[in-house]
Amino acid sequence: MIVFDQVSFWYNDRSETSFKLKEVSFSLEKGCVNGIIGGNGSGKSTVARLMVGLMPVNSGTVNVLGKDPYQQLSHSGFLAGIIFQNPENQIVGATVEEDLAFGLENLGLSHAEMHCRIIETAARFGLSNMLREPVANLSGGQKQLLCIASVLVMEPAWVIFDEPTSHLDPWSRLEFWKIIDEFVHHHDLGVVVVSQLAEDLNRFEKILGFSGGSLVFQGSRHEFRQAGDELHQHFNYPESWKFEQLLASQNV
Ligand SMILES: Nc1ncnc2c1ncn2[C@@H]1O[C@H](COP(=O)(O)OP(=O)(O)OP(=O)(O)O)[C@@H](O)[C@H]1O
Ligand SMILES: [Mg+2]
Repeated sequence: MIVFDQVSFWYNDRSETSFKLKEVSFSLEKGCVNGIIGGNGSGKSTVARLMVGLMPVNSGTVNVLGKDPYQQLSHSGFLAGIIFQNPENQIVGATVEEDLAFGLENLGLSHAEMHCRIIETAARFGLSNMLREPVANLSGGQKQLLCIASVLVMEPAWVIFDEPTSHLDPWSRLEFWKIIDEFVHHHDLGVVVVSQLAEDLNRFEKILGFSGGSLVFQGSRHEFRQAGDELHQHFNYPESWKFEQLLASQNV
């Protein structure tokens, strides 16, 4: 479970003093696809970074499996990993194998355990025969897969995807959602996906909606659909939903 209790956060950057995440409280469970939505600058990535403990909160508490993710390297087991939108910002190794090993080195595992995890994860993502390959030789899609693999090799309880679908073509988007479904429903992995794409709303089972640093909605997709225009104005809303509502209102 991920629990935010009265979390406030602001960046210590004078030029950005206006943004504040304001006393945000919610809890997310494994077993369903959790989505974070909101316009540009609403605080989606800030919440994602707090979930994986990239920075400490100013007030309130963040808990993942009952522990503070900001301290996660001192816990046994890895709580939560993040996959950024742009693979170029995430890849740190010169080769596929080095990239897979990088995060593991911080977890203090034995050499044998690291080797075992790398071999298994590479196989799962179809990267087995590329372990020695320079990362620069990989295609965009392969880089994206490597980013996911390099987080999952650390065996986190939760994975946060920050706008993973925005740069994907429709076909790759379908592939992405297939992988997510598999993780959520067959691998007991907690998943949160940040997205601004209206069509991704159809994939989310639980939704957190942010506007100007405030959590303005939390609930199921069904509840989100039922909410009025006052709420929907903050978000990209699938055209198909509007059409279906229109048909329903006319009893067609
Ligand atoms: N490292 C930082 N230092 C200072 N201000 C920041 C930093 N990162 C983000 N901000 C500011 O905080 C606010 C919220 O940013 P955040 O990245 O959480 O928004 P977002 O909802 O993810 O937006 P986007 O859709 O553009 O990704 C923005 O005004 C942003 O400019
Ligand atoms: Mg963002």
